[in-house]
Amino acid sequence: MSGTKTFDEKDLAEIEKLTKKYPEKQAAVLPVLWYAQDKFGHVDPSVQKLVAETMDLPEAHVYGVVTFYTQFYEKPMGKHVLDVCTCLSCQVCGGYDILNYLEDKLGIMAGETTPDGEFSIQSVECLGACGYAPMLQVTNDKYVNYLTYEKIDKLIDDLKSGKQPGFESNKMPQHENGTE
Ligand code: FES
Repeated sequence: MSGTKTFDEKDLAEIEKLTKKYPEKQAAVLPVLWYAQDKFGHVDPSVQKLVAETMDLPEAHVYGVVTFYTQFYEKPMGKHVLDVCTCLSCQVCGGYDILNYLEDKLGIMAGETTPDGEFSIQSVECLGACGYAPMLQVTNDKYVNYLTYEKIDKLIDDLKSGKQPGFESNKMPQHENGTE
């Protein structure tokens, strides 16, 4: 049932443009994979093969890049991918409690997708926002910081109703009671 994945002429022109920005084509694998993920929603083995063939690179090289970054999805994911940081700082601040709460709430484990295809959860390494722990990232985009169970409830409700988390989620604690 799964159709063969291909790049059309527009894609190939875009990929060539991306590749030309770098002295070596290997260096363009990241942006080309982003482009591919944007187009197909994930970079599963068939997409990795397509990228490798298109860039005339070994599949192993593309595979190595995809598997190094949790930001690349190796299989189809839910509409919203919740990357919960469980690295040291977030762990100390309750990252696993947040992860477990989210798993219970959505009825799936990290690495899984809800049956309706709305949400996937991943447990990820440090996202470089340790000062905002515990935190998560929504579909490689917004960070939601200083997580609490209430914030998780609101986030899920918002995402279900089509609302993305806003910048208020980045407020420092000293700003949360209205002081500068
Ligand atoms: S440990 Fe979670 S963002 Fe760094």
